[in-house]
Amino acid sequence: MQSIDWVAVLFRWMHIIPAIILLGGTLFLGLIAIPTTTPREGGLPAWLGKVRKRWAMLSGLCILLLLVSGLWNFMAYRLPEVKDTGPLYHALFGIKVLLSLGVFFIISVMSGRSATFEPMRSKPGKMAMIAGLLGLTIVMIAGVLRGIHKDTGLPSNPPDVKLPTG
Ligand code: HEM
Repeated sequence: MQSIDWVAVLFRWMHIIPAIILLGGTLFLGLIAIPTTTPREGGLPAWLGKVRKRWAMLSGLCILLLLVSGLWNFMAYRLPEVKDTGPLYHALFGIKVLLSLGVFFIISVMSGRSATFEPMRSKPGKMAMIAGLLGLTIVMIAGVLRGIHKDTGLPSNPPDVKLPTG
């Protein structure tokens, strides 16, 4: 009989859904909403101030879920699986986490109020594009990471089915 590890599935949902919302929202802002509504005479689109608070709450929740699910996934599943696979997995995972921190920083600063980061907030389209491109790089690295532990022949939870032994 086959069984599914539902806790692993839940944490995977907790990683992928916020990643989609955070990256999708950021790329929509950077590629479409901001460039098409920025006034020709300069300045920022008026609606940016109106959506700021709601985007800050949603993106903050996504960041929290990504951190919790990513750390749990790494400690509970990946670390035991990949400890004998050589340095490549760990190097790429380290780069993925560092880039994630960069994305989290840009997105938090853009919806924050600190005067120190006003120069960044004055270029919202450019910053959203940088965060979006970093985010896409993270997704590409995640795809490679998945391939590395598949290659080892070790079980790749979550959420693959567990086959009976014996
Ligand atoms: C913008 C931030 C992030 C994005 C867009 C992102 C996206 C992804 C995606 C798409 C996957 C593949 C999921 C799958 O195939 O099931 C993944 C896997 C993973 N992520 Fe993230 N992630 C982010 C941040 C983080 C952070 C901060 C951590 C850890 C602290 C983390 C840890 C992991 C781990 C351990 C995996 C599994 C990799 C493997 O298959 O070996 N992620 N991530």
